[in-house]
Amino acid sequence: MQAFIEGLPKVELHLHIEGTLEPELMFALAKRNNITIPFSSPKEVSQAYQFENLQSFLDIYYQGANVLIKEQDFFDLTWAYLLRCQQDNVVHTEIFFDPQTHTDRGIAFDTVVNGIHRALTQAKQELGISSQLIMSFLRHLDEDAAFTTLAQALPHKDKIIAVGLDSSEVGNPPEKFTGVFTKAKQLGFLTVAHAGEEGPASYINDAINMLKVARVDHGVRCVDNEELLAQLITTKMPLTVCPLSNTKLAVFDTMEQHNIVELLRKNVCVTINSDDPAYFGGYMNDNFIAVSNALKPSKQELAQFTLNAIEASFISIEEKERLVTLTQYYLNDF
Ligand code: ADE
Ligand code: ZN
Repeated sequence: MQAFIEGLPKVELHLHIEGTLEPELMFALAKRNNITIPFSSPKEVSQAYQFENLQSFLDIYYQGANVLIKEQDFFDLTWAYLLRCQQDNVVHTEIFFDPQTHTDRGIAFDTVVNGIHRALTQAKQELGISSQLIMSFLRHLDEDAAFTTLAQALPHKDKIIAVGLDSSEVGNPPEKFTGVFTKAKQLGFLTVAHAGEEGPASYINDAINMLKVARVDHGVRCVDNEELLAQLITTKMPLTVCPLSNTKLAVFDTMEQHNIVELLRKNVCVTINSDDPAYFGGYMNDNFIAVSNALKPSKQELAQFTLNAIEASFISIEEKERLVTLTQYYLNDF
């Protein structure tokens, strides 16, 4: 099955670019920018990646981002991830960035977005990997701060397809951001939101009804509400599920207990994604392999994760058709 997974075309829809900062690059950037980090080697950084829950991860993740200062740093970070996409046969990727993590440290919005965008443009030309960029608001901050970030994004509207919502979920419900999401939609952005990762199924409902999301990020707690589950199936609402993230952050105790294949078999539009691969021990292939080893989906079912992601992606119908054909040929010829 490993060879099948490695060759399978993949589409990633849930990836935080700050979560691709590998310990080695963290060290190199700290040195280049003269920044002190509380670790003496990349190995010590990796050893610190033991998380009990979402918040214990976020505390380390925001600290890691402090080494990102210059446009070139954001380029290097993004380029390193895109080279991993090439290795894992990811043909299209939709990437989150958290502007507030950087603007709150005095880094200009333009520095962040221009560095990431330059790498995405180069990847399209040199690696043939297409992409979209999604700007996420940090939900532990207030809605006024999100409005400020939305205003900063307007000169870059051509580079950003959607707005999202991430960070500490419990206690920061979707309704806190209804105003800014409504405004973003009026301005022509699509919307997505993390919901039902650690938070309750009601947050998934609220993300759909109040924030008008086109996809739910994570959403695995949907199984707690039968009516919601039925609605996700009939409306084909995509869930961008992150298996290794969920086991590392104790959303599920083991991969054997993960509900992704059960949801697939119920016809929920679930997809496989890596979330913060530098922190959770794996990129796309690793996530597919972990699901395959623990839950034994068939080849057809593994390919269905890609077909679901193509359908749920923010690309043109023509491009969707091209990627569906590519995937079906691969499945039939394997
Ligand atoms: N930011 C980065 N990764 C995240 C996750 N899994 N949940 C919420 N916010 C995040
Ligand atoms: Zn996430």
